[in-house]
Parts: sequence; structure tokens; C-alpha cells
Amino acid sequence: MPFDRHSIDDLRSQADIVRVIGNYVALRKRGASYVACCPFHHEKTPSFNVHPGKQVFKCFGCGVGGNVFTFVMRMEGVAFGEAVRIVAETCGLPLPETRPVTAEAERETEERERLLRLQVLAMRFFQEQLTRPEHYAAREYLAARDVSEDTVAALGLGYAPDQRSSLTNFLRDHGVGTAELERSGLVSVTDGGSHADRFRGRVMFPIADSQGRIIAFGGRTLGHGEPKYLNSPETPIYVKGRHLFGLHLTKESIRRAGFAILVEGYMDFVRLYQAGIRNVVATLGTALTEAQVRQLRRYLETPKVVLNFDNDRAGQAAVRRSFALLLEHGFRVNVLHLPEGKDPDDFVRARGVGDYREQLKQSQPLIEYLVDVARFEYDITRPAGRAQAVNAVLPYIAKIADAIERDLAAERLADRLQLDAAPIRSELQRAARERRAELAAETVEVTTKLTLAEHSVLQVLLAHPPLCATAFEALDDELIDRLPGRVFFRAVREVYLSGRAFDYPALAQAVARWQRAETRSDATGQSDFFAADDAPTPLDLEMENYVAELLLRAEPPEDDAQVERYRAILEDGLLVLQQRRIEQQSTALHHLVRKAVEANDEALALHHANERLRLKRARLMALSKRYQR
Ligand code: UTP
Ligand code: MN
Repeated sequence: MPFDRHSIDDLRSQADIVRVIGNYVALRKRGASYVACCPFHHEKTPSFNVHPGKQVFKCFGCGVGGNVFTFVMRMEGVAFGEAVRIVAETCGLPLPETRPVTAEAERETEERERLLRLQVLAMRFFQEQLTRPEHYAAREYLAARDVSEDTVAALGLGYAPDQRSSLTNFLRDHGVGTAELERSGLVSVTDGGSHADRFRGRVMFPIADSQGRIIAFGGRTLGHGEPKYLNSPETPIYVKGRHLFGLHLTKESIRRAGFAILVEGYMDFVRLYQAGIRNVVATLGTALTEAQVRQLRRYLETPKVVLNFDNDRAGQAAVRRSFALLLEHGFRVNVLHLPEGKDPDDFVRARGVGDYREQLKQSQPLIEYLVDVARFEYDITRPAGRAQAVNAVLPYIAKIADAIERDLAAERLADRLQLDAAPIRSELQRAARERRAELAAETVEVTTKLTLAEHSVLQVLLAHPPLCATAFEALDDELIDRLPGRVFFRAVREVYLSGRAFDYPALAQAVARWQRAETRSDATGQSDFFAADDAPTPLDLEMENYVAELLLRAEPPEDDAQVERYRAILEDGLLVLQQRRIEQQSTALHHLVRKAVEANDEALALHHANERLRLKRARLMALSKRYQR
């Protein structure tokens, strides 16, 4: 039924256009209006204006403009009536009154209403069946899954008897005609043209829209029948992928909590809901859709979700699409993977809701999660692997709507892949800023090569091996591990300690072995390294060139003065390498400070900040020593 003209005008004047539009785009105040980058065309500088006084919006870039309703219609891709409903709901205002017009529209509305009433009728039937003595197995099933009677009542759970047409008969007895039965989604037509219950011998979960109107059902077998869950087909009142299960019960909790937990299954929802975690909705095992994401966004000022899906689904394309969609819509996304691949229902039953809340706190920001997956998939001890990992995550960073968030994400990516070199960091940052989805592999590889300081240190060590004593006193294992040229440093140290001459065979062999240990990625223990010393490994061509170059250029000192010059080069180089370590530690501390601040842990933040100060002081001392020379 269309809305009454006057009450529409009332709603338009009472609705806060800034609040409604602000739900979709980040508005900034400028003078009497608000501005943002236009959501309807691509632009870098904001030309999209919202005028609260006039209650209109206008984009001076693409020309689109209108009132609060037309905005929502465009943004959500919905009809006028739906836009009115959304605006009323967002602003907490009553729905305008309706009045009938065309016979056609009236007929459609009436049919929808009949179908809606029919779902309620069916729900009551299923509920009643569940209480019957002969259906004790259904009650036992729910009890065995620890679903309380309160939960059964709150969600309207019921039972569809394992009979051919118990619901069909019930509905007919209530005067429901054949055409309507067929459109209800609850009855199937057999080959012979007779009607039978679609759901049989199943626990029934009513599916509601966000206003709580029952629009469809899902039914679970009591045992191991296939399919495990059967859902209503699409009907005039039920479009798949439009709704989130349970939202009508939890939207207020979601608003209060400031974030929603997304789970997959009916029972995951039931478990959390019953355990008192109410800011939850279920996607029912499919990929998220645009409509669902938009719907969820309505209840969140700064949209934020925790995805708590099954472990085994995480890598799947559907889940990846959900990630991208949420990021595109400005969501901050955390991922929660429960231990041992448990779903939320399993986990809460096994460990209790307290443990679940703990896990929730430890959910990982999506980008960090994706990097960890990439680290597992690619061998990031090698440059090519690091490039692959970067390019696996970068597309998601590019989708992050907010520029600052994007920057931070790029930083996180660099940190977690231990891409320390300044050029790669800034290149990554630039890619994130420009929302590029890919970085040339060379960019990542080149910048993981030796730094100048490393090169000069290696050079003087080969030119004058006695300097190795000083060098390896300053370069402990931890420091060497952080160097792009660690393989060469380890090799030089090994040859030096073995007392052999620095000739090509000795050096090349040592480099090859350390390189092999490195690519086995368990290059931590010495013993392991020697155990692997069986088959010779061909030395990578590039490395071979480098070793040859080092040796060719190594000129033994001619006099004491030259020894001193070499010593000075060495000390300078060592200082730079040590500084690098301090910088890395300082960056790490900086992140810890920020994390502690985010977690409101003042004491911890202060502790890390002090550590960082201490480091900085040490760094200054070392630098001043250098200049005193
Ligand atoms: P799962 O297979 O993970 O089942 O499907 P579950 O939720 O853990 O079910 P329980 O705990 O054994 O009862 C996740 C969701 O995918 C949809 C359902 O919405 C289910 O909750 N699904 C699954 C179907 O629609 N049909 C199916 O046959 C299976
Ligand atoms: Mn389950």
C-alpha cells in the first residue's frame, strides 16, 4: 500500500538527512553543509554536498541530487516504499500511514500479507507439534543440543512431523487455497499433482526479516538425513541473500555493542544467543551479499564485524568475497578462528561462554589474518615468496575505504612480512594510498638485497680477515638474522672460524649451504644445518656472481694506514647495522604502545614508551661516538 502523501512529508522533514547519509559515507562539516567524496561516482576530491537545512544532497561532480529518500533508493537499490521504511527505522521515527491506490498494487500487497500470515500460521503449527507427546524425539534432540525452552520460545522453534501432509492438511483446514499453498514455499507439488509437506521430520527455524516478520523456514534433520538443513525456496516474500538470520532479535544489541559477530549456522546463532551474546547474526552458510552488508551497516555507526566462520571454509572463494565486500563498504573486519576448527556452537558447549569472550578479544584484524595465511602459503624466506605474499594481501588493502586505515594496513603487512627496508615500505605505502592491487615482484625482490653498509662490511672482512674478530663480536646471531645479507655473513663467519683461507670454493660452498638452510625455513639450529650437509646444492647464479665480485674486489691492505682505514669503514658499517636494529625495535615498540593505548592499558603503554625512549637515547649515544671520531 502506498504511503499517505502528508505523512511522507512529515517523515522527510523530521528525518535527519545528515545522519541517514552519514551512515553510508564519511561526511565532513564545511560551513553550513557537509561534504564527502561522492558515493555514486569515482572522485578524489569531495564534491558531494549534504545540506541539513534544506534537507537535500547534491553532487557537483556527477550531478546526482535529491532528498533523503532518493538517496537511500539509489544507495540501496530499493524502491521508494522500502527507502521510506529504511529512513524511518534509521531515524527511529514511525512509519508514515498508508492508503490504497491501484487495484494491481493492492492485489500484490494483499498477496504478500496473506503469505506472511500463512508463515505465522505454519510457525504456530510447528510450535504446537513440538509440544506433542508423540514428538518427544524432537524435544530430546533439542535438549541433547542444549537448547533451552526459553530459546525455543524466543526463536519460535518448532517441529515438522515426519508425515506426508500434516502441515498441508492443517493449512487447508484453515481455508488456505491451492494457489497460495503452492506459493508459500512450505508445500511441494508431487509429480502426480498432489500436494505434500516440504519439511518432514525436521526441527524448524523460522526466518524473519529485520522487522521480525516471518518470511521463510529452515529445517534440520534430527539424525543424519540429507540435506542436513533444508530451507524454503524463494517466494514473493522471501528473496535469498537479502536477510540475516536473527537480526530482528539482535539489532538493538548490535547497535549497543558497536559491532556484530557474524556466524554461519543456525545453531551457532542459537548457542551465542542463549549464552547471552546478543550482538550476533548468522549468514546461513552462504557468501555475504551486498544487501546483507548494507542492512547490517544500518545499525552501526562505525561499521565493524567479527567473522567467526568455520576454519575449513576460510580459504574458500565465498569467504574471500565476503571479506572484500565488507571492506568495500567501510567495515572494520576482524577474523576469529576458534581452536581445533570448532564452530561457535561446538566451542561454547565445550569450553563455556567465558572462554568464547576471551577468544573474541583475541580476534585478528583481517589484514593480519590474511598475511598469516599468506605466510603459511608462500615461502617468505625467499624474495619471490615475499612478493607473492604481498600480492596476495594487497588487493584487500586496496579495498579498504578509509585512507588512514589503508596506510596502517600497509604498515602491518610490511611488519608481518619483515619487509624492513625503507624503499619497500614506502612503495607499499604508496600502493596502498593509490589503492593498487599489485606490486611488481622486482620491487619487493630488489629491496631485499644487501644494503650498502652490509656490502662494505663484507668487503673489508674479505680484504682483511683479521677484522672478523671485531666484526663478529659486534654482530650477534640476532642481528645477523635481521640482515638481508645474512647468508653471506654466516658464510664468512663460518669460513673465518674454520681457519680456512677466504677463497672462492670455501666461500661459495658455505654460502650455498646457508642458503639451503635458509630456504628450508627451519634455519634456526646449527645442528640442523650440519645435518643437512649431505648433497651439494648448486649456488644460485646471482649469489655466485656476488661472491665472485666480493673476492675480486678484496684488496689486502698495503700498509698500517690502510688497515686503519678498513677498520674505520668496518666500524662505520657496524654502527649502521646496529642502528637498523634499533630502528626496527623502535618501530615494534611504537606498535606496542599503540596497541596498549587502543586496549586502554595505560601502564603498559607507558612501559613500552619508556623502553622506546631508552632505545632512542642509546642510539643517540652511539651516533655521537661516531662523530667524535
Ligand atoms: P554446517 O554444515 O557448518 O552445519 O552449515 P552447522 O551449522 O554446524 O550445523 P549443526 O551444528 O550440525 O546443526 C552451516 C550452515 O549452512 C547452511 C545452514 O544454514 C547451516 O547452519 N546449510 C548447511 C544448509 O543450508 N544446508 C545444508 O545442508 C547444510
Ligand atoms: Mn555446528
